[in-house]
Amino acid sequence: MKDFTFQNPVKIHFGHDKLSLLGDELKHFGKRVLLTYGGGSIKKIGLYDRVQQAVKDAGMELYELSGIEPNPRIDSVRKGAEMCKEHNIDVLLAVGGGSTIDCTKWIAAAACVEHDAWDFFDYDKWSPVEKALPIVSILTLSATGSEMDSGGVISNPETDDKRGRQSKLLFPKVSFLDPTLTYSVSPFQTAAGSADIFSHLMEVYFAPGETMYMLDTFIEGMMRTVIRYAPIAIREPENYEARANLMWTSSWAINGLVGADKPQAWSCHPMEHELSAVYDITHGLGLAILSPRWLEYCMNKDTMPKIAQFGINVFGIEPTMPQREIALRAIDALGHFLFDTLGLKRTLPECGIDESHFESMAAKAVLPYEGKLPGFCTLTKDDVVNIYRMCMK
Ligand code: NZQ
Ligand code: ZN
Repeated sequence: MKDFTFQNPVKIHFGHDKLSLLGDELKHFGKRVLLTYGGGSIKKIGLYDRVQQAVKDAGMELYELSGIEPNPRIDSVRKGAEMCKEHNIDVLLAVGGGSTIDCTKWIAAAACVEHDAWDFFDYDKWSPVEKALPIVSILTLSATGSEMDSGGVISNPETDDKRGRQSKLLFPKVSFLDPTLTYSVSPFQTAAGSADIFSHLMEVYFAPGETMYMLDTFIEGMMRTVIRYAPIAIREPENYEARANLMWTSSWAINGLVGADKPQAWSCHPMEHELSAVYDITHGLGLAILSPRWLEYCMNKDTMPKIAQFGINVFGIEPTMPQREIALRAIDALGHFLFDTLGLKRTLPECGIDESHFESMAAKAVLPYEGKLPGFCTLTKDDVVNIYRMCMK
């Protein structure tokens, strides 16, 4: 078990009635607020009007950046940073899912520098984040955990790159988590978001090295929470208990707690980000397709005990069977949950993806890790290609 320091500075307001505090929270940071949002879902659910009223009641000036894309693009970061400079913005208010919050984090950083926003992600430059505007977020989709972490993932369509980076300056100061705001999330986005939460938990659970029993047990509990409530949220979109459980799990899956004593050695995420970069597919869908294949590919005598533990404690597989049988059933149970219960597509061809970019995507996936993803099992570029191929049928 590694030594660690845990600090998560995000203040959370959770529940139906907490948005009444929005104006007071924003006022702490100044007078001029830039509201950022995506393609318009916040207007359909009446949230846009509520936010406008709250900002007005707080006596603040409101500016807006709309149209932030799913898999947000560097141009949106550039546009937002320019607006911050032009209007002397004091605080950013991100209203939406992970894409809007991620993009807003990097707007907050880019607003404080003169260089191009992509320099934060360019491996040759990797410009430091030394300052950022404060961010307040209102979450509308349970998935990425961006509302309570310090990372953001940005795509550059000119180079087919999608890159993530963290900085302690990019934690939101305050996040509002109102489960009713997720009632309108489609069955597909609910499923994909749940697969993303589940993957964040798997990446840590299966990371190499010893861990604390307490943390493993916490992860298993959160996995069971997703398995229990995601199907309910899909079936009954306005089930508060289901939406609330998914929302709070999304935050705790990636806010630093469960991964504190583990190396940051993730596998499916680097592989998935390449799929999203080239094909612009939904992040959680890509993870769902990859995850069972990755687990199967990694299964060997060293990894089998952990896969079996996962099968017993998460999927309730009978512990008296031979370990190999339990592990194989665990991988089957994972696929059954993702594809049959959540209804996500099972293969890459179903998402319009063929083998043509596998080599270059795999090369990019391992590039920042000196050629090998150091996760549950070490993956070279060829291993990544093999896993992509397993997703073809
Ligand atoms: O753009 P709008 O109109 O808001 O519609 C969005 C979008 O089309 C819609 N949506 C959001 N809330 C809704 C809603 N529709 C109806 N009702 C609501 N209440 O859902 C669609 C997807 O939204 P998006 O924000 O793209 O989804 P998600 O939250 O899954 O974010 C995905 C992005 O986050 C990155 C992913 O790579 C991807 O770019 N990630 C960020 C992480 C982080 N910051 O730590 C970690 C993750 O692993 C992930 O990589
Ligand atoms: Zn993710």
